[in-house]
Amino acid sequence: MTSLDGKTVFVTGGAGFIGSAVVRYLLDRTEANVVNIVKLTYAANLTSIPQAAGHKRYMLAKVDICSRMQLRALFERHQPDAVMNLAAESHVDRSIDAPGEFIRTNIVGTFTLLQEALRHWRSIEPSRRATFRLLHVSTDEVYGSLGSEGLFTETARYEPSSPYSASKASSDHLVRAWWKTYGLPIIVTNCSNNYGPFHFPEKLIPHMIIKALADEQLPIYGDGQNIRDWLFVEDHASALALVIERGCIGETYNIGGRSERTNLTVVEAICDLLDRLEPSRNGSRRRLISFVEDRQGHDRRYALDTSKIEQELGWRARETFETGMAKTVRWYLENRAWWQEIIERGYDGNRIGLGRPRAGAAGIAP
Ligand code: NAD
Ligand code: DAU
Repeated sequence: MTSLDGKTVFVTGGAGFIGSAVVRYLLDRTEANVVNIVKLTYAANLTSIPQAAGHKRYMLAKVDICSRMQLRALFERHQPDAVMNLAAESHVDRSIDAPGEFIRTNIVGTFTLLQEALRHWRSIEPSRRATFRLLHVSTDEVYGSLGSEGLFTETARYEPSSPYSASKASSDHLVRAWWKTYGLPIIVTNCSNNYGPFHFPEKLIPHMIIKALADEQLPIYGDGQNIRDWLFVEDHASALALVIERGCIGETYNIGGRSERTNLTVVEAICDLLDRLEPSRNGSRRRLISFVEDRQGHDRRYALDTSKIEQELGWRARETFETGMAKTVRWYLENRAWWQEIIERGYDGNRIGLGRPRAGAAGIAP
């Protein structure tokens, strides 16, 4: 039994990497009714929710969160008890080449969702108004870059570096303002780097697995000493479910894996796992590692203090970096059709984010 049983939950961006993990979690571990609101951008993949087909508690709404009238129709029709906002443009390198879509979806889309959620919240009866929640899913990148010491707490100053993280920071500010000004019951979470199954191949871990399997160079930006804190995506989904059930209105919760690694260490771990699970006749994959031009504005280190969610809500990541990475590499070996289809529909794996606009890229190039 969970307090979400029988409730209707809107999940925006539920065909993306983390959103699909949240939808799978809600369908498998609760009795919630899920309305998945997605624009179906390049990052969406409906096959990431295999249990959705014919599921009586699942509904797909192909809707852009910037579309006020379509959102309004969804709120009026489904009368949700909770909204989990995961719709976003999420890739830093894309934001360097074409920031416009990040401003539109991450800022204008969040604003539009807030307005329609507020309208809905004001219209429902007081008992439902008291339990309604809007959970906004954000990132540790809003805090900017750390030196070799220290951790970001929930009160750390916002100092975003990229168009992506600046757009996420803006959306966090909007969400908190809608609570302070209008009383909309919101919660914000700031999470570290996720990894796991169904991760779009442009991100470091799947990018390296797929390139290594093709015996291609593994491009590490700069000196490979940038540090990220890695969290298995299913641990993130369980944290978000807990926060929406038991988190306090107006609060912020950091979510992280307590698994800081340099990028070089991550790529070496991938090489070693692949060598063990599917040896190459050309020898160790570590020979493919190559250092390439750095990302512009590349944050050096992210690390979160996660004691608040651990102490106040009793959450803790179940997977270690080692167990999560082993599961992830095995998943990519056993589910080639999932990522090969993405390559077939046009994802070429070439380097982006060097500030040179791609042909056909949406948005305003700098
Ligand atoms: P993703 O890029 O994999 O998925 C984003 C989803 O949003 C896709 O389904 C996409 O189609 C959808 N979408 C995009 N624009 C939309 C719009 N205008 N209307 C409706 N749907 C739209 O992203 P992700 O990695 O799953 O990230 C989800 C959220 O979590 C984002 O807000 C991101 O900032 C945050 N986050 C991600 C990570 C990470 O490591 N991936 C870590 C911390 C926080
Ligand atoms: O910290 C949370 C953030 O993590 C999320 O908010 C973002 O949505 C998510 O994309 C991720 O951002 P990063 O920029 O950290 O992830 P990415 O996978 O793009 O890169 C991870 C690190 O690896 C980063 O230091 C850049 C580096 N990198 C990345 C790629 C794709 C490489 O060295 N080579 C690569 O080919």
